[in-house]
Amino acid sequence: MNLKSAIPDAAPLVLSLRSVGYTLETAIADIVDNSITAKATEIHIDANWHENASFISIMDNGYGMNDDELHQAMKIGAKNPIMPRTHDDLGRFGMGLKTAAFSLCKRLTVGSKLLGESTICVRVWDIDNVVNSNKWELFDDSSTYAWKEAIRKFEGYNQGTIVVMEKLDRLITEKYSDQAVGRFWQRIADMERHLSMVFHRFLSGANPIQIFINGTKIEPWDPFMRNSFATQEFREEFVEMGDKNIRIHTFILPHHSKLSVKEYDEAGGASGWLEQQGFYVYRNKRLIVPGTWFKMLRKNEPGQLARIQMDLIGDMDFDWKIDVKKSSASPPAIVREKVRRIARIAQEASRKVYYYRGAVINQQVKIEDNDAIWEQASIRGRTFFRINRNHNLLKEACTALNADAAKKVNTFISLIEGFAPMNASLTGPVSSEATQDHELLESAVRFCNDLIEAGYSPCEALRKVLQISIYEGMDAAIKDRLKI
Ligand SMILES: Nc1ncnc2c1ncn2[C@@H]1O[C@H](COP(=O)(O)OP(=O)(O)OP(=O)(O)O)[C@@H](O)[C@H]1O
Ligand SMILES: [Mg+2]
Repeated sequence: MNLKSAIPDAAPLVLSLRSVGYTLETAIADIVDNSITAKATEIHIDANWHENASFISIMDNGYGMNDDELHQAMKIGAKNPIMPRTHDDLGRFGMGLKTAAFSLCKRLTVGSKLLGESTICVRVWDIDNVVNSNKWELFDDSSTYAWKEAIRKFEGYNQGTIVVMEKLDRLITEKYSDQAVGRFWQRIADMERHLSMVFHRFLSGANPIQIFINGTKIEPWDPFMRNSFATQEFREEFVEMGDKNIRIHTFILPHHSKLSVKEYDEAGGASGWLEQQGFYVYRNKRLIVPGTWFKMLRKNEPGQLARIQMDLIGDMDFDWKIDVKKSSASPPAIVREKVRRIARIAQEASRKVYYYRGAVINQQVKIEDNDAIWEQASIRGRTFFRINRNHNLLKEACTALNADAAKKVNTFISLIEGFAPMNASLTGPVSSEATQDHELLESAVRFCNDLIEAGYSPCEALRKVLQISIYEGMDAAIKDRLKI
């Protein structure tokens, strides 16, 4: 038995690689991945419209490559995918740079410079040349207008890499017209939106990187609205996968009545509220899937406030079937049940806020957590903090008291909750639904009675209860029940 070599022909392979399925935004994100891995702090993406001579460049100030490294980097399969990578490496397959670029353009030029070097090493893939020669041959320089323009901008850099894509035949498919130009810039705007989502964790935080598109800095888009007071946040959970952990953090976004029109539109993201619910799968902090229930649950209207941050590390790539484009992931069998449970709890919590009813939303998570001091509840669309009555210390102390004293402690805790600064300062819409909210009315009446029993006059008790933000506007209904 002999081994016969079967080297793939360059022309058909390079042409097939053009159809891996990237879009403009996923392609650019893949190239930006490389810049982030190279520790760039500044990345400039420039799109230039010149009809057939249009080009896009991506320039970074990362650690760059020497001539040999650049040559290797330009090979299809630059690195072995099964080799371990560090946890800040956004790459895996040794393909992204080429497959992303070829899906948009026929000419890819990469220049790179190491710190302390005066020369920039250059390699160029020109698909027309590969197809004509049927050989995997690269140029080591370029003299096109696009390259000259790009290199001019790169002059001030001590180190870094510049990627230039010309002959954008897959991006610019129309002849010149005002509409064609408009569509081009619309796609660039969509790309900006995508990058601000995919890289939001790099664009914010302690040492943020900066990404510019044609000179304008991209702002991060946080799917979890962490800056909004009304966002509800569950305790982080860890799902074991062998000797590694998947970190999961559930957020329930505010009811729409808590948001301005602008906030609501922005939070809807690129695909809208319905589509953007579910797990947000991050690989080494880079978002790869923006909202999925992994076919375990359906996306539905009441579930649209649930967004769950799920952190994977690069070592999990094969178990999670991460693809070359870094745009899909699928949970392995050993974690599916746990992931499904978390998904159900989040959808249910979202449903409660969506329907604007009072309910302790993270009850199920808190059940095992008797050590938490505060619990969050969503009441009339507002996040209300309650003291955990199941806290072991409180429970133990109350069992040592007689019934009357235990009741007084409970009433006093209700007062603390009602007048705690974070609850007292709650503002927002109070609809007439308030009086129809039976559960809430019952709790207000109970509270008044407890205060009366504790020695308050009915009028004082009512006044105290009405000062609590969640009971706002319920005076008539409470008076009616208390007959005062
Ligand atoms: N901007 C850059 N700065 C420094 N090195 C780079 C840069 N871009 C690419 N490289 C080098 O080129 C290699 C090949 O890049 P490419 O994107 O093709 O594959 P990868 O990042 O290793 O894996 P993946 O296919 O998953 O993206 C990288 O591993 C890196 O060593
Ligand atoms: Mg890469």
